[in-house]
Amino acid sequence: MSVVNVTAGPAGSPVLAPSIWFVGCGNMAGAMVEGWRSAGVDFSQSVAIRPSGTPVPGLRTVQTLGEAGRPPELLLLGFKPQMLRELAPGLANWVTSRTAVVSILAGVEVATLRELFPRAQAVVRVMPNVACAIRRGVTGLYSADADEALRTRLRQLFMILGLTVECTNEAELATIGSVAGAGPAYVARFIEALARAGEARGLDPQLSLTIARETVFGTGWLAATTGAEMDEIVRRVRSPNGTTAAGLAVLEPELPALVGRTIDAAARRGAELAAAARAIDSPEGAA
Ligand SMILES: NC(=O)c1ccc[n+]([C@@H]2O[C@H](COP(=O)([O-])OP(=O)(O)OC[C@H]3O[C@@H](n4cnc5c(N)ncnc54)[C@H](OP(=O)(O)O)[C@@H]3O)[C@@H](O)[C@H]2O)c1
Repeated sequence: MSVVNVTAGPAGSPVLAPSIWFVGCGNMAGAMVEGWRSAGVDFSQSVAIRPSGTPVPGLRTVQTLGEAGRPPELLLLGFKPQMLRELAPGLANWVTSRTAVVSILAGVEVATLRELFPRAQAVVRVMPNVACAIRRGVTGLYSADADEALRTRLRQLFMILGLTVECTNEAELATIGSVAGAGPAYVARFIEALARAGEARGLDPQLSLTIARETVFGTGWLAATTGAEMDEIVRRVRSPNGTTAAGLAVLEPELPALVGRTIDAAARRGAELAAAARAIDSPEGAA
């Protein structure tokens, strides 16, 4: 596994994106497009395909594959994993030996994608998170068959969106999905819980939420910019027998197990989605 970027933003002239079909461009693919566009990436050769036809700012948006034009260099699968069974046969008709299939579908494995898109130049799995919209995302990349030119192209594209981790196996990618892909939802719940606790002690609800949000943001920023160990940050806050020590005495025994169970549950669900997608052509899967 190698980390190829920790900061956001390319220097110099705008990047011309390869021709990409965003098949499905909802919360996640939309966040990626937003991040790229805010960095000045030029999507003049790309198109979003979504049944609702809801326009994606900066992208030509169409409702059907037939309206999309010439087959793309990158076919980005941005719909829900459960739709793969229905959509893959139609999509495969547009895949040539010069098309890389790039999937953000949680769980669905390279082997399954390769079986469904046998003509593809390469199959790449990407596991991003929604903070890509502000170019502070975390993205895992994995491919078994991308050549160096494609890897470089994808690395350059995704590093614009934040931290990019090139995985050496799919298990790493799955873990990044469970920790970072889902992570913004966990962190949002933590912020909310902190805010509710402040509210319960008498703070105005909106003020309490702002305080909780800024506390999490400030701590993350402090850790990221100083490189301080978490223990070091705790040491800087906790004084012996003080208020933080009293709070941590409650939190510390329970938090690691709770978070561990949370990530385990997400990983189990990822494995279920992978199994369901794997079974696409088998008699059991069709049942
Ligand atoms: N959300 C995350 O934080 C996150 C993180 C990592 C990975 N992912 C992965 O990203 C994928 C999308 O998740 P999401 O949260 O972005 O879901 P979402 O907001 O519901 O977006 C799904 C997209 O699929 C489109 N779609 C539905 N039917 C389609 C069809 N027949 N042909 C083409 N497109 C179709 C929808 O079109 P309309 O817009 O027209 O309805 C929508 O744009 C999932 O596979 C998920 O595992 C999500």
